[in-house]
Amino acid sequence: MKDARKDTVLGHAGRSPRDNHGIVNPPVYHCSTVLFPTLAALEASDRTPFDTINYGRIGTPTTLAFEQAVAELEGAYRAVNTGSGLNAIATALLAFTKAGDHVLITDSAYGPTRRFANDTLVPYGVEVEYFDPTIGAGIAALLKPNTSVVFLESPGSLTFEVQDVPAIAAAAKTVGATVMIDNTWATPLFFQPLRFGADVSIHAATKYIVGHADAMLGVIACADEASWLAVKKAATRTGTCAGPDDIYLGLRGLRTLSVRLRQHEESALALAGWLSKRPEVTRILHPAFADCPGHEIWKRDIGRSSGLFSVVMKAVPKPALSAMLDSLELFGLGYSWGGFESLILPARPATMRTATRWTDPGTVLRLHAGLEDVDDLIRDLDGAFTRLNNAL
Ligand SMILES: Cc1ncc(COP(=O)(O)O)c(C=O)c1O
Repeated sequence: MKDARKDTVLGHAGRSPRDNHGIVNPPVYHCSTVLFPTLAALEASDRTPFDTINYGRIGTPTTLAFEQAVAELEGAYRAVNTGSGLNAIATALLAFTKAGDHVLITDSAYGPTRRFANDTLVPYGVEVEYFDPTIGAGIAALLKPNTSVVFLESPGSLTFEVQDVPAIAAAAKTVGATVMIDNTWATPLFFQPLRFGADVSIHAATKYIVGHADAMLGVIACADEASWLAVKKAATRTGTCAGPDDIYLGLRGLRTLSVRLRQHEESALALAGWLSKRPEVTRILHPAFADCPGHEIWKRDIGRSSGLFSVVMKAVPKPALSAMLDSLELFGLGYSWGGFESLILPARPATMRTATRWTDPGTVLRLHAGLEDVDDLIRDLDGAFTRLNNAL
C-alpha cells in the first residue's frame, strides 16, 4: 500500500502469500547448490553474479525477503544480510576502506567495532581515528581528503550519547566519505538514518529484530545502488551470509517489533524514572532524559526510545557490587540485549575511550528492560539495592 505506516509495513513487507500457495509466511529455503537448466542459463547467471539466485551464499528467496523487508523499513535501496551484527559492521567497513584511507569512528562505539578497526583495518594500512560522539558539525576539522568512512553509533550502546547525524553527514559529504551508522538501538522503526544523510545503516538484528535471544543475525541497509553493490561485493568476497533459520527468525521478529518495542520503551522509561530517584544513582544515561548528551538531537530526530539504557551509581567496591548483582531473580547478568528478558551488565567506559575521557568515577550499569511486569522488575532492583547497602 502506498504511504503505508510503519506498523503496516512490518506486517506485510517481505512476504507474498499469492506467490506461495496462499501461505502467510515465506518458506525457509535451505540451500547450498542451485541447479541451472542449461549451460546458457549458468553462464547468464555469471553476468549478474550479485543479483541472481545462483548459490546459497549469494541469496535465496528467504534472505531476499528479509532484506527487502528491512530495506523497506529503512527507506533503503536494498539491504544485505550477515551472520551477526558484528559481521555486518566488519563487512560494511571492509566495503568502503582500502590501504591509505582514513576512517573516523565515534569514541562511543561498541567495543568489538573498535577491535575490528584497530586489529584488522589498521594492520591493513588504514588510519583509524576516534572522535567525540558529541562533535556534530565539528567533525569537519577532522576530515581529510582521504577520509573514506565516518562511522557513527547513535546512541552509543553503553553511554548513550545521541549523535547529530545530519550535521556529520553534511560535513562528510564534502570529502566524499561514506557515512555509516550502527542503528541497532533505535531499530528501523524509530530512526531511519538514510533519511538524515547516512549512506549505510547497520543492525545487529540479533537484538530487537529477532527479539527472542535465540539467533545471531545482522543486516546492512544501503541508501543507493552504488553503496549496496559495494556492500554486496564485500559480503560475497568474504562469504558473509546468515543461515536460513536465523533469517526466518529475523523475519518473524519483524512482525511483532512494534508492539514489543512499545513495551520495552515504556518499561525502560519506568525503570529509569525509578532509578533516577535512588540515592545510590547519580546519573541516568537514557536519551529521553534531559541531561543525556544529545537529548535535544534525540528529540529532533528520533523521539522514541527502546529498552536499553545505563545508570551511573556512586562508586561501589567489587564485593558490594557482587552482592547486588549475584542474587537477582529476574534480571540476567549477560551480554547482548533486545530479547524479551531483562538484563543488567556492569560497564567500564573509561577503559575503552581514546578521543575523549570518561572521568566519572561511578559504577556504570547497563540495563535492558525486558517484557516482564515492570513492578516485578522494580522489586528485583529494590532487593539488589538492599543487598548492596548491606554489603557497604
Ligand atoms: C550496538 C551493537 N552493535 C553491534 C553488536 C553486535 O551484534 P552481534 O552480537 O549480533 O554480533 C552489538 C552486540 O551487543 C551491539 O550492542
